[in-house]
Amino acid sequence: MLFNLFKKNSEEKEASSQYITLQVREVVRETSDAVTLYFDQPEPHLEYLPGQFLTIILIINGKEERRSYSLCTSPFVDPFPGITVKRLKGGVVSNYINDLVFPGKKITVMRPMGNFTCDYHSKNKRHYGMIVAGSGITPILGITKSILINEPDAKVSLLYGSRNEEQIIFKSVLENLGNQYPGRIQVFHKLSQPSSVWAGTKGRIVASDIQNFGRDLLADSDHESRFFLCSPQEMMEAGKISLAEMGVSKDQIFTENFFIEAKDKSGNEEEGVQQITQEVTITLEGQSYTFDVTPDKTILEAGLDMDIDMPYSCQSGLCTACRGRLLSGKVTMDEDAGLSENEIEAGYILCCSSKPKSGEIKINIE
Ligand SMILES: Cc1cc2nc3c(=O)[nH]c(=O)nc-3n(C[C@H](O)[C@H](O)[C@H](O)COP(=O)(O)OP(=O)(O)OC[C@H]3O[C@@H](n4cnc5c(N)ncnc54)[C@H](O)[C@@H]3O)c2cc1C
Ligand code: FES
Repeated sequence: MLFNLFKKNSEEKEASSQYITLQVREVVRETSDAVTLYFDQPEPHLEYLPGQFLTIILIINGKEERRSYSLCTSPFVDPFPGITVKRLKGGVVSNYINDLVFPGKKITVMRPMGNFTCDYHSKNKRHYGMIVAGSGITPILGITKSILINEPDAKVSLLYGSRNEEQIIFKSVLENLGNQYPGRIQVFHKLSQPSSVWAGTKGRIVASDIQNFGRDLLADSDHESRFFLCSPQEMMEAGKISLAEMGVSKDQIFTENFFIEAKDKSGNEEEGVQQITQEVTITLEGQSYTFDVTPDKTILEAGLDMDIDMPYSCQSGLCTACRGRLLSGKVTMDEDAGLSENEIEAGYILCCSSKPKSGEIKINIE
């Protein structure tokens, strides 16, 4: 049964604390497949941590589309916040942004979120290992700039996979950082389909590359090591396994997933999900909503069907925009990659991938 209904129009969205409107001030083409949008600073200025992402909300062909894009800028260095979007074949939003967004366009976004960031301190003496491919460079650039300016004793090594020379996003920005901070940042490019004149390493980044990279970094006994990974899932898994084998502990490794291959739902993944409709109550911005969730729906889908303005972005368990705390009842989560172990222990769930496993479910969305 539904006690409270409301769907926000765009003006109401602006007035709500979770949304903000940003105006594009500059569009910079980084490669033939990637573009950076810089936004005017709103008043008050956009508050974000390096490595966090924005959820962009666009109406395309009459349908609301939401996607997450990491901020490529550093709040410590860059006057204007920016996101870099790489075109995906057939992708609705990435192609729209690459082709049809120009300076002056106003875009509704959700306030920055995400835990892929760093605890900066001028006294830190760390050597950071960044392992990235393609658009994974985006949050890493903001984090790297922030490290270099905030931690004078820190060093950054970047293992960076791209398709070819032309597709290296931020190539010259990284070279400029090398000149600005001599001896503190080194970049190792690996190209999967380079031109015939490429003299560097060729192929995709594989486990042995990560092992060699990690070994060199760990040999730097003057510095504490930290690793940041943002890459396709296969490379990310190879990275996590290789680093663990070298004795790197989980709390030294930070990961951001942009995309997870859809799971095969033909197996018994739905085990534990009750095949009956359950009542769920969520609290959002101080209001409570009670609604039914049928067995074929996630809690987010059921809430959106009732026109409740629940926060969300990726709808695949990665971005945490739909995060809530389970106060009572039980759920099963298909995908929890976006949550840390601590968050799971503290009772946080992702509404986009959760289905009721019991009655009397109460969730607080902060
Ligand atoms: C936390 C987070 C941060 C992100 N930051 C960035 C960023 O900084 N820059 C950036 O370019 N993208 C980023 N992404 C990915 C972005 O949100 C979109 O998923 C991507 O732009 C594709 O959207 P689309 O509408 O173009 O494609 P869709 O129309 O949604 O999908 C088109 C096809 O591509 C597949 N697909 C969707 N997303 C991906 C993906 N990421 N990789 C491979 N295949 C995919 C789909 O299965 C489908 O087959 C981020 C994602 C997350 C969760
Ligand atoms: S909407 Fe992204 S994790 Fe749920």
